Amino acid sequence: MVVGLHRKAYIKVDLDVIRQNIKYELTRMEKNQELFAVVKANAYGHGLVPVAKAAKQAGATGFCVAVIDEGVALREAGLTETILVLGVTPSEDAPYLAEYELSTAVGDLEYLQQVYPLLKQSGQKLRVHLALDTGMGRIGFRDQASLLEALNFLQEHTKQFEFEGIFTHFSTADAKDTTYYEQQLARFEELMEVVEKRPRYVHVANSAAAVWHKDCGGNVVRFGITMYGLNPSGTELVLPNEFQPALSFESELVAVKRLAPGDGVGYGKTYTAKEHEWLGTVPVGYADGWLRRMQGYHVLVGGELCEIVGRVCMDQFMVKLPHEFPLKTKVTLLSSEKDAPQSLQNAAAYADTITYEILCGLSERVPRYYQN
Ligand SMILES: Cc1ncc(COP(=O)(O)O)c(C=O)c1O
Repeated sequence: MVVGLHRKAYIKVDLDVIRQNIKYELTRMEKNQELFAVVKANAYGHGLVPVAKAAKQAGATGFCVAVIDEGVALREAGLTETILVLGVTPSEDAPYLAEYELSTAVGDLEYLQQVYPLLKQSGQKLRVHLALDTGMGRIGFRDQASLLEALNFLQEHTKQFEFEGIFTHFSTADAKDTTYYEQQLARFEELMEVVEKRPRYVHVANSAAAVWHKDCGGNVVRFGITMYGLNPSGTELVLPNEFQPALSFESELVAVKRLAPGDGVGYGKTYTAKEHEWLGTVPVGYADGWLRRMQGYHVLVGGELCEIVGRVCMDQFMVKLPHEFPLKTKVTLLSSEKDAPQSLQNAAAYADTITYEILCGLSERVPRYYQN
């Protein structure tokens, strides 16, 4: 997608805040633990390479991505640390993974069997992290017998495979009720009984487990949403105050007009002026990731909260103004202040979703500017 540089709509990312979040998490971790920065999905919308570089400066020793291309982009940016592709990758791409020294999640024996001849032919070695499905129901070995088969296969083919890691993923580490989390942890320990020689990396913690279940174990924390200063639980559990959001989204008024009673606003005329009222137009829409369902939400215009009226269009939306504002008045859609009315958490709650989804949906058309 083309980046809209000639429009007053931009995302600001404070890399120093991201570094501080990582440094604080490192102080909470055990001495033997490493932090892998989860930078998949364009670093949750913040920008893959700038965030990865900042994370490295702050002490991250590895990265997690979701697709191979994200890992390749990190390598091409000069990052030499461990990069783990968390998702299942196409078996025919194994030589490509090996070429870029990317580690990959493996959740079944078939994958290993399929990629083995390819790697043998090219004389390459693939770094493998075995995924254990302890209750997420997504990818991974679910019983000791199948895990053992994979372990044996890896052991028989050490020229083509490096058994580098083993991991699981919690589905409820961000919940008050810890029952299922504990079941998953117990399941992990049970599966681990068949692993005679532990690989270099054993990892179970996402942000939620790292924050609220510090004793969950493993020697790597896969640190995602909280690196960006956000609460994995939404508002269910309290996130330490040291973690601060790093991203804001701003624009400005490009049109201001006075409506007469009965004038309609937006597609479908879902808003009709009841009296003489002021209306402003902001050049941001759902093509930028500003969702159509934000109609009715309040953004900050020149320091005053103003309601979005009418449907959000593809590239613009309208706000009801309490009085006339000059053109180019600043509009804050998302604030990096945790407790501001336009916090990411409030936007997510309004849209009936999670901060992750709002962030990942911010499109490439919106330029990212970085504060160091
Ligand atoms: C396997 C895995 N580990 C870690 C993370 C990071 O999670 P969080 O952003 O909640 O820290 C994710 C994110 O979806 C994931 O899929």
